[in-house]
Amino acid sequence: MEKIRLGIIGGGQLGKMMAQVAQRLGFSVWVLDPYEKCPASFVADHTIVGSFHDEAAIRELARHCTLTTYDIEHISTEAIKKIENEGHRFAPSPDLLALIQDKGRQKEFLARCGIPMPRFALYDTLEREALRRFGFPCIQKARKGGYDGKGVLTIRGEEDLKGAFPENFLVEERVSIEKELGIMVARNQRGEVVTYPLTEMVFDERAHICDMVLAPARVSSQVEKEAREIAIACVEALQGVGIFGVELFLSTDGRLLYNEIAPRPHNSGHYTIEACETSQFEQHIRAVLNLPLGSPRLLAPAVMFNLLGEVGHEGPAVVEGFEEALSIPGLAFHFYRKPVTKPFRKMGHVTITAQTVEEALEKAQAIRSKIRIVSEAL
Ligand SMILES: Nc1ncnc2c1ncn2[C@@H]1O[C@H](COP(=O)(O)OP(=O)(O)OP(=O)(O)O)[C@@H](O)[C@H]1O
Ligand SMILES: [Mg+2]
Repeated sequence: MEKIRLGIIGGGQLGKMMAQVAQRLGFSVWVLDPYEKCPASFVADHTIVGSFHDEAAIRELARHCTLTTYDIEHISTEAIKKIENEGHRFAPSPDLLALIQDKGRQKEFLARCGIPMPRFALYDTLEREALRRFGFPCIQKARKGGYDGKGVLTIRGEEDLKGAFPENFLVEERVSIEKELGIMVARNQRGEVVTYPLTEMVFDERAHICDMVLAPARVSSQVEKEAREIAIACVEALQGVGIFGVELFLSTDGRLLYNEIAPRPHNSGHYTIEACETSQFEQHIRAVLNLPLGSPRLLAPAVMFNLLGEVGHEGPAVVEGFEEALSIPGLAFHFYRKPVTKPFRKMGHVTITAQTVEEALEKAQAIRSKIRIVSEAL
C-alpha cells in the first residue's frame, strides 16, 4: 500500500469524523481550517490555519497530501482549479463543487436531467411583481452560501418581502411536506455506485435545522425504490466522485421531489457509523481514493439526534445528562469539541441502535430532553 496522506479542507465535525477513519486505515491527515482548535485538529497530524478562500493555504495543504477533499462546500473553487492544474489531486472535482455551490445552477442542471423537483425560478433582484406572478406562498433561497437553513426564507405573501434576500436568489413552490428524506450515495472513479438505506429527517421547526434521523425511513417499498433511483440518477448525472447526501421531500400528495445534494458526508448519514457495515466517512475516503467501495448494509435500525446548543447559552460547552445517556444500551455518544456552544449550533450527536426503528425512537425520545448542551457558569 502506498503511503497515503489525506488532506481535508474544513475541520468541523465532518472533517473530524473523516480524519478518525483515515487514521484507522493507516493514513496520515492534514486539515485546513480558520480555527487552530477546530474539531478535526484534535485528530489530524497537522492543521494549517487559514481561510477556505486562501489560495496559498490550500496549495500548502494540497502540496503535502496524496489527495485533498472537503468537509464543506463553501470554498474557493477557482483556487482549487488552479492548484489542480499544477498537478495536485482533489475530489470531488472543483467543477462539480462550483455547480453544487450555486443552488440555482444545481437545480437547473438536475432539472434538465429529468430529476423531479419543486417548481422554481431564478431571480437577480427582488421584484414584487415577478414574485407575485410566481405565486405565494413560496420559499426563497440564497443561491450561494446557505447551510443549516440559514439561506432559506418562507414568503407567505407580499408582507414578507421586506425581510427577503434582495438579490441572487431562487424561489420555489412551498411543498406541503409529509416527510423529509435523505439518502447517501457513494461513487468512485471506476463508476461503482452504492446507496445507503433511505432515512427520515425530522426538523426543528424553530431553526429549519435537521435534528433527528430515522434509519430506515418508515415509507412504502415503492417510495424507497423511487428515492434510491432519483438519488443514483443525480450522482450519475453529476459524474460525482465521493459520497453525496441527497435530500428529498415526500409531499402530502404523494410526490417524491429532489431538494438538494451535498458533495460530502452528511448529517443524515451519521447513523452509518454504528448502524452500517461501512460508515459514510470511510465510504467517502474509499471513493475519493478510488479504492473498492465498502458494503453499505444496515446492521441494525437506528435513530440519530443532534445535540444542538441550548437557546440562551453561549460560551465554553458543558454536557448535562452525560452519564444518564451512557447508561442506555445501544447508545453511542459523539461530542465534537467545538470551542464554544451557541444556540442551535451542532455540538455533537447521539445514535441509538435497536431491534426496530420504533424501539430506537422510543429510547431516543426518552433520553433526548435530558441531554442539554449549556455554557459553563461564569
Ligand atoms: N420548497 C420547499 N417547500 C417547503 N419547505 C422547504 C422547501 N425548501 C426547503 N424547505 C425547508 O427548509 C429546509 C432547508 O432547506 P434547504 O435544504 O434547501 O437549505 P439548507 O440551508 O441548504 O439546508 P441544510 O444545510 O439544513 O441541509 C428544508 O429541509 C425544508 O424543511
Ligand atoms: Mg438541506
